[in-house]
Amino acid sequence: MSIDVARARADTPGTESVAHLNNAGSALPPAPVLDAVIEHLRLEAEIGGYEAAADRADRVEHTYDAIARLIGARPDEIAVVENATRAWDMAFYAMRFAPGDRILTSRAEYASNYIAPKHVADRTGASVEFVQVGDAGGVDVDALEGMLDERVKLVSLVHVPTQSGLVQPAAAVGAIARAAGVPLLLDACQSVGQMPVDVREFGCDMLSATGRKFLRGPRGTGFLYVRRDLAERLEPPLLDLHAAEWQADGSYRIRADARRFENWESYIAGKVGLGVAVDYALEWGLEAIRERVVALATRLRALLAEIDGVTVLDVGPERCAIATFAVAGRPASEVAAALGEERINVSVSPLSSSVADFAARGVTTDIVRASVHYYNTDEELDRLAGVVGRVAGRRQSTFS
Ligand SMILES: Cc1ncc(COP(=O)(O)O)c(C=O)c1O
Repeated sequence: MSIDVARARADTPGTESVAHLNNAGSALPPAPVLDAVIEHLRLEAEIGGYEAAADRADRVEHTYDAIARLIGARPDEIAVVENATRAWDMAFYAMRFAPGDRILTSRAEYASNYIAPKHVADRTGASVEFVQVGDAGGVDVDALEGMLDERVKLVSLVHVPTQSGLVQPAAAVGAIARAAGVPLLLDACQSVGQMPVDVREFGCDMLSATGRKFLRGPRGTGFLYVRRDLAERLEPPLLDLHAAEWQADGSYRIRADARRFENWESYIAGKVGLGVAVDYALEWGLEAIRERVVALATRLRALLAEIDGVTVLDVGPERCAIATFAVAGRPASEVAAALGEERINVSVSPLSSSVADFAARGVTTDIVRASVHYYNTDEELDRLAGVVGRVAGRRQSTFS
């Protein structure tokens, strides 16, 4: 089934005012998500926040069911938290590391996913090691296999990096990690909502994601998946009266399901909206969404590559909705600002967002990131390319 773009746009009020090519930043929410969040906020104002949560408890519960369906998990393996970073950190900081332990990760990691392991490694005497990049640009699965030994306690992989259109071979990495008995923590923050993601197929034990990106959910929402038997063994780094129960004998008992990684107070309207966003994505179908975004991004890269002075920077045999590029002699911030003036939204990926990846690829300046969604049109891509062409042309006239 293919995407009915006219219907998708009719459902998306923001498409009337902007050409939104910053979906990897925060996508435009569809009307049903917006309505669900506003409706819940109204109810809170009318009858009280606790009362509204009780009244809509079934909708809150539904969010866990919907996420579980989205990623092929069970509802009791899902924790809903405030963002992908908190989700990732709750899983990562629950792991125990000792001197000599090894954490294997990729160069393409999001900065936070390097900083936290480095933080723990510095405190414990463990080490963080990058797996070699393969010829195609993603993590080299054979090199990973060769690095595994009994000291490796975690493999951490970003599925789709923040700073490129690369799709990492998550299933191949999962199979290798599983065979070696090493847990895989997958950062699916930039992949959920734009392609099928299945935790059993990927063989991943923990997965983190956010609501606001390709899922088109509310800001301030995210989720964590932890395989049930692992969740029962992982002690969360933070506990409260939601994650655990105070016992009469002075001890506490940590709840058995993945909600042990949550805390009590939360953004209920956002939680409800996240469930609606997941339902909405599932209605379109993740395979249909992937097909459309890959086609749009492929076309966008081709348009950009034709412009003199523009370098398209995406690597990897499999590429997704994200197209990254640089304009010679023009800072990324200037390109983004010129597009912004025409109401075309993109973002800038600064070098600090993924130091090791940029260094390995020889990228020495911040870059422009344009990220499509299925509601974008060819006409929007043409307009983007037109503005980039003009900015690149300014460079030509500056030098001539
Ligand atoms: C690959 C990746 N992982 C994690 C994050 C963090 O997500 P959040 O801002 O929801 O914590 C981002 C955000 O851009 C990202 O690109």
